[in-house]
Amino acid sequence: MDKNKKSARLTIGDENYELPLFTPTAGPEVIDIRKLYSRAGVFTYDPGFTSTAACDSTITFIDGSKGELLHRGYPIDQLASKSHFLEVCSLLIDGKLPNHEELKAFKGTITRHTMLHEQMVNFFRGFRRDAHPMAIMVGVVGAMSAFYHDSTDINDERQREIASHRLIAKMPTIAAWAYKYSIGQPFIYPRNDLDYAANFIHMCFAVPAEEYVVDPILRRAMDRILILHADHEQNASTSTVRLASSSGANPFACIAAGIACLWGPAHGGANQACLEMLKHIGHVERIPEFINRAKDKNDPFRLMGFGHRVYKNFDPRALVMKQSADEVLDLLGIEDNPLLQIAKELESIALQDDYFVKKKLFPNVDFYSGIILEAMGFPTSMFTPIFALSRTVGWISQWKEMIADPQNKIGRPRQLYLGETERDYVDIKYR
Ligand code: SDX
Repeated sequence: MDKNKKSARLTIGDENYELPLFTPTAGPEVIDIRKLYSRAGVFTYDPGFTSTAACDSTITFIDGSKGELLHRGYPIDQLASKSHFLEVCSLLIDGKLPNHEELKAFKGTITRHTMLHEQMVNFFRGFRRDAHPMAIMVGVVGAMSAFYHDSTDINDERQREIASHRLIAKMPTIAAWAYKYSIGQPFIYPRNDLDYAANFIHMCFAVPAEEYVVDPILRRAMDRILILHADHEQNASTSTVRLASSSGANPFACIAAGIACLWGPAHGGANQACLEMLKHIGHVERIPEFINRAKDKNDPFRLMGFGHRVYKNFDPRALVMKQSADEVLDLLGIEDNPLLQIAKELESIALQDDYFVKKKLFPNVDFYSGIILEAMGFPTSMFTPIFALSRTVGWISQWKEMIADPQNKIGRPRQLYLGETERDYVDIKYR
């Protein structure tokens, strides 16, 4: 990329500063401020990084005004309808769609890394049965660094690849076992004759006492949910993984940090919060009450599943998810699911309400995913773990890209200091 063909001029007092202006292949131009402090003695100020590019990347591109999401250039709606999750994993990691041999090899590798070290079973038993599955995932994934020492050296490309495969392969087992533990059922081991999505559903819902056959519609819906959550540029949890990794921490510790960040209700925890909100609304008649609360500046209540930092038109993933919701509920014969009725009525009212239109608050990926997952039989506490098992490939892809970046250095933001200037210590007898 010819980064330096244009420049921006910054004037501070009587001084003018020419700053390089980088031209991307898509999206806004970027002002390179890396030398600003050394040349002008000033910082830039951007809490929440709403206008800051923390890196360059070739993995995912979002156009928030058009509602466009591309993974390595391929639109999300095409991937959701024509691809499957492990192929999208290979695309995100390697930057191109795999040919038949490459895909067969990748699937074979992932399939044969799904089991956990048997000693790790003890970690699950150390938790209370009512522990949130995300707490278990943070703990168990972080603990993987104590079991897989042969893939913790981030400077060894082969070890980075092995760690990537282990994380993608074992996340469904960890998530499924967290669920089984919470309901007091025995762990179901992964099966190599099932594909990725079917294997996860089987580990969640099978019991040793009888055969469990995964419904192909549910398998397809799960595979689509995994595709839709796989990666999303420099969102909060991905930025957490990048920042943790910038210190040289091992991949398992970095992914555990990403899981912890995703847990928040403003981020990946929104799907659980959204369904709990729909249950709290309880009936379409109460929707106006909650719409008014969401608009009330003095009320911290927000409509979970609405709004997005980047999408200011619509979240393309929500459109695909809505179609899946209809298919799954139709299959399960619960197309008149009361929660789906409330969700559809809430969406219709919010999209016409002046407040939401002006603030460009549209349903996001979390709005419909919770309804599908509940219809499939998952408790709300499993929604974010499923988001995490999907997003693991996105975190891994961004992590590998960052380590391979020659500009990679430890992340260390500065601040606008508004505290006390220097003052002398006062002995307690004078306070
Ligand atoms: C994900 O970054 C990603 O890509 C994330 C994600 C991914 O794939 O990784 O897409 C996944 O996290 C999706 C978002 C899930 N979160 C929710 O559904 C929680 C509800 N949404 C809000 O918390 C909020 O919309 C955010 C956090 C998603 C975005 O917040 P922003 O961009 O920082 O916007 P903001 O908080 O500054 O809000 C702008 C205005 C505010 O009003 P004013 O101060 O300007 O008067 O819009 C209002 C907010 O009060 N607002 C809402 C609202 N979201 C924003 N009002 C009511 N309900 C909401 N949901």
